[in-house]
Amino acid sequence: MRGLSLLGAEDRRMDVLAWLRGLGLEQYAPAFRDNDIDDAVLRRLTAEDLRELGVASVGHRRRLLDAIGALDEADTAAAGTADVPVPASTVVTGAERRQLTVMFCDLVGSTALSRQTDPEDLNALISAYHRVVAEQVGRFGGYVAKYMGDGVLSYFGYPQAHEDDAALAIQAGLAILDAVPGFAAAAATAAIAQQPQVRIGVATGLVVVGELIGEGTAQERNVVGETPNLAARLQSLADPGTLVIAETTHRLAGGLFEYRDFGAVSLTGFAEPVPVWQVLRPSAVESRFEALRAGALTPLVGREEELELLLRRWQRANAGEGQVVLLSGEPGIGKSRLSAALRERLEGEPHARLRYFCSPHHQDSALHPFIAQLERAAGFAQDDTPEQKLGKLAALIAPGARDHDEVTLIADLLSLLPSGAAELDLTPQRKREKLLAALLHQLEALARQQPVLMMVEDLHWIDPSSRELLDLTIERAASLPVLLILTFRPEFQAPWSGLPQVAALTLNRLDRRNGTAIVERIAGNCKLPDALPAEIVERADGVPLFVEELTRAVIEAGPGGEALAGAMPLPSSGVPPALQASLVARLDRLGPAAREAAQIGAVLGREFPYGLIACVAQPRAEADLQAALVALTGAGLLFCRGAAPRSSYLFKHALIQDAAYETLLRARRQELHRTAAQAIAAEFPTLAEAQPEVIARHWERGGRCRARVRDMAKGRRGRALAQCFYRGAGGLPARARHASPDAALAGARRNGIGAADCHKPDDRRNQRVPLARSD
Ligand SMILES: Nc1ncnc2c1ncn2[C@@H]1O[C@H](COP(=O)(O)OP(=O)(O)O)[C@@H](O)[C@H]1O
Ligand SMILES: [Mg+2]
Repeated sequence: MRGLSLLGAEDRRMDVLAWLRGLGLEQYAPAFRDNDIDDAVLRRLTAEDLRELGVASVGHRRRLLDAIGALDEADTAAAGTADVPVPASTVVTGAERRQLTVMFCDLVGSTALSRQTDPEDLNALISAYHRVVAEQVGRFGGYVAKYMGDGVLSYFGYPQAHEDDAALAIQAGLAILDAVPGFAAAAATAAIAQQPQVRIGVATGLVVVGELIGEGTAQERNVVGETPNLAARLQSLADPGTLVIAETTHRLAGGLFEYRDFGAVSLTGFAEPVPVWQVLRPSAVESRFEALRAGALTPLVGREEELELLLRRWQRANAGEGQVVLLSGEPGIGKSRLSAALRERLEGEPHARLRYFCSPHHQDSALHPFIAQLERAAGFAQDDTPEQKLGKLAALIAPGARDHDEVTLIADLLSLLPSGAAELDLTPQRKREKLLAALLHQLEALARQQPVLMMVEDLHWIDPSSRELLDLTIERAASLPVLLILTFRPEFQAPWSGLPQVAALTLNRLDRRNGTAIVERIAGNCKLPDALPAEIVERADGVPLFVEELTRAVIEAGPGGEALAGAMPLPSSGVPPALQASLVARLDRLGPAAREAAQIGAVLGREFPYGLIACVAQPRAEADLQAALVALTGAGLLFCRGAAPRSSYLFKHALIQDAAYETLLRARRQELHRTAAQAIAAEFPTLAEAQPEVIARHWERGGRCRARVRDMAKGRRGRALAQCFYRGAGGLPARARHASPDAALAGARRNGIGAADCHKPDDRRNQRVPLARSD
């Protein structure tokens, strides 16, 4: 089609029969000829017309309408109008918009090295360095995108996003710096005099990532955007042996690390000075929850009944009747916050507190939460020698240990014994049993002195050994003054719910009043427009984490109430950076097919019927689409009503819909919106009549509304459509609002208001589509 743009307008008329042949639909040629369908008429054909022409097959009508749409596109491109979408041929398959954390890692002084060193030795050194980087990047969930001589470019957040990609990239960077002595040894064997050093830059931001555009078959994942540049610049700024990060990365990683603030630094290629931090080390905070919420927590809102239940269970535990509470709920719903509230309430009471944190990156690392807790409780310092650590550990655990073997086993668990626990001469099985018993004895000893509040967070990430120890703990705690609180997301099946000492508590979304209270507390003195808190709570679906982040995003976007009130209520690119990774991670986990189905669904609306997504997703096989929808439903991202093909779907969270939508390239979004508009017009006539604004919105977002509305205004449906565009134009005089649709459209145009101007900016979420195909 692109070749057409080289022709003059006259020459653009084409042979309709040849066009049909090109589509493999020449059987309709006689009907087209008999009904005088020439080039001009062809471009105006509707689904109804096609039916009248005898095109009975839905698939054929779809193909024809798509091809007609493509003709229009070529015309618009040729005419050079403003609302031209990117031609389909430049759309990169598989490419996506992403929030990506980019790490740039460089071997310092390699040019000098290359002059002084035999190439073979240098090669050995660089290989060792590459191995270290690849290993650490892989260990923290990153992806090595490119080796550029002695530079290594890595991504965190693609192809698989993780909740905490920014923090993972930093951890990987620190681990690489730690590993330098390892390949320094390789350098020494290669007789390289100079001690090799590494410097690292990390930045986070929005990029387009995917396969390379254009010719050739080199399928390299390429990234376009400012972020890789920034990471590279930061790297060149870093002193040898250090890691520096950009503002966005710093914000996302919050209190998880300690930093040195460099202030704003001028960088080549960046107009404004850029704030830069050096990462010094992981911080000593006890939990992620606290680390990411530096400063005072906002006061607890609601949850009175839940807190009451926890306090009652605490009373019973206090009396020696050990209790377990299974506290479950989706991410961000407030499990950690409620646990914190209980700790606050018990502040004045004598008791011991034990806290354990499961982590997504330690699911294969046996007893990790218990090891980390012991290290914190013993007070290990960064530069303690193994002997010092052993001394601290012994002081902590010896009083509760039944014999010295138990101390040895626990010290071995913390890797503090050079020869392991070999002296005990136990089979691996026996050693394991004794170790678990030793850990249990520690709890018993503590509970003999005072009641114990024991919290294990995020069991959905627990490793099998910790799980076994937890089984034993629950059994044993029944007769100890212990309240054990276990938090997890709904995907974790807790096996203990039938036991008498176990209570299950599921946290639901906050109601509007409580949600609004969170907005107000975060907003503080910043006055928000009246309608905004309710809108935030609705968009956040009552999930406190979403409420907080959306409110922060709004406050950061505008200087104050006045500016906000006049502006669009919520930023339209609405997913706050802090939520991007965790939402996209939920989609990524299900694989590309499910992600793509979510993206198409996101274009259709918060709610969409199966019939419509099946139409828009063509030519994908329906079986694949159904499997993808089942996966999305199973993962709790979509609610499903009915069974395919009569089913309908609802995004569980508006923000999941937004996150999926925002990963689409603009060109692909437009294409999907246009396909949706055509599909609704062709296959859902009842909807098209009843809610022309839905089609209008798709055309508008498809980037071609003006020409399309002009065309459509000629038909009955088109007049309704024009009227609806017109209704959206708040700036017109009242008398004009009652004019005829054609006059309305003309009036709107006279006033210089194109369809794009006439519409409420972001109503995607509110689209409601009937639940079954209407014909
Ligand atoms: N009832 C509440 N009142 C005030 N803030 C809350 C409440 N519940 C959750 N939050 C806040 O929402 C965010 C997410 O809560 P969190 O406890 O971390 O969720 P979860 O542990 O379930 O993933 C936190 O910043 C928390 O302080
Ligand atoms: Mg939590």
